[in-house]
Amino acid sequence: MRILVSGGAGYIGSHTTLQLIASGHDAVIVDDFSRSKRSVVPRLEALAGRSIEVREVDLTHVPATEALVADGGFEAVIHFAGLKAVGESVEKPIEYYSNNLGSTLSLLAAMRRHGVPKFVFSSSATVYGENASVPMKEEFPTSATNPYGWTKVMQEQILRDAAVADPSLRVALLRYFNPVGAHASGTIGEDPSGIPNNLMPLIAQVAVGRRQKLLIYGDDYPTPDGTGRRDYLHVEDLAAGHVAALDRLGTAPGVSTWNLGTGTPTSVKEMVDAFARACGHELPVEIAPRRPGDVAESYADPSRAEAELGWRAGRTIDQMCVDTWRWQSNNPDGYPA
Ligand code: WQD
Repeated sequence: MRILVSGGAGYIGSHTTLQLIASGHDAVIVDDFSRSKRSVVPRLEALAGRSIEVREVDLTHVPATEALVADGGFEAVIHFAGLKAVGESVEKPIEYYSNNLGSTLSLLAAMRRHGVPKFVFSSSATVYGENASVPMKEEFPTSATNPYGWTKVMQEQILRDAAVADPSLRVALLRYFNPVGAHASGTIGEDPSGIPNNLMPLIAQVAVGRRQKLLIYGDDYPTPDGTGRRDYLHVEDLAAGHVAALDRLGTAPGVSTWNLGTGTPTSVKEMVDAFARACGHELPVEIAPRRPGDVAESYADPSRAEAELGWRAGRTIDQMCVDTWRWQSNNPDGYPA
């Protein structure tokens, strides 16, 4: 299939583009490079063994998105593009709502006009809100505690309503838990712009000497070692989940929702210890107060994706750390500008 991958120069988008190509699809990247670097493209092409078409478009610009889809000949869109920093979304809610909702709305309008039938959406476990029990199941109600989370809840609703209005539209809502890791080559990986928010890139930057120490946000949670537990999954497993979901949309009508997680929680301390094994040295840490909005535990019930997609996230925490370390140690400052 010819597939438009929005945000395809980003962390999860780049890994998914590679697996789409390896699966025989014709993947086209569209990105505005506001949060990603152009230098990822030649690295992707080297790994793919072929050139990759890249279009630089701001998807909130309706005419440009219309032109992109009109002559694209796409059979599906995988929509990764979006702003995703929880803290930033609290400071800049208007940018978050206009960018995240605007890009989805302009893509859907263009897809309807040109008969593009499949939409795979990059959603997030954040839609379970902060009072969900664990393990999280797809039928749980959705809510949010910050504008970023609300944009995901709202985009899911937009997609459900669009699919009701247009029975030819088939949608996969993929709720990611905590993606980490990097392609085994060590040439592509996570390269957050600015100060990272997430645990793994922060650990990696401490390990490579870009940061002094890791602050552990709270060790008084009701968990075995007192630190927060999350469902970390390898980005390569996550990418494979997208390929499987895309294939499944060939037959599944309407909207399907799948958790993409391992179902196994790992604590901050366990992740730090695993990374120390991967990089071969201890990591300086300091216990700090809890981070507002954090929950003690978040992990998936992945049984629906296993049953309906034949998908399971099998890579281990140690593999996630080894692959992250190879990427970070080979690229201490991330991608070149
Ligand atoms: C993981 C654990 C922290 C940093 C967020 C978003 C969510 C999704 C994934 C996009 C927690 C602890 C972290 C640090 C720490 N993003 N931690 N010190 O909060 O589960 O989810 O990223 O969809 O929407 O909310 O991930 O990596 O920020 O934190 O102790 O310096 O690491 O308290 O327990 P989180 P995270």
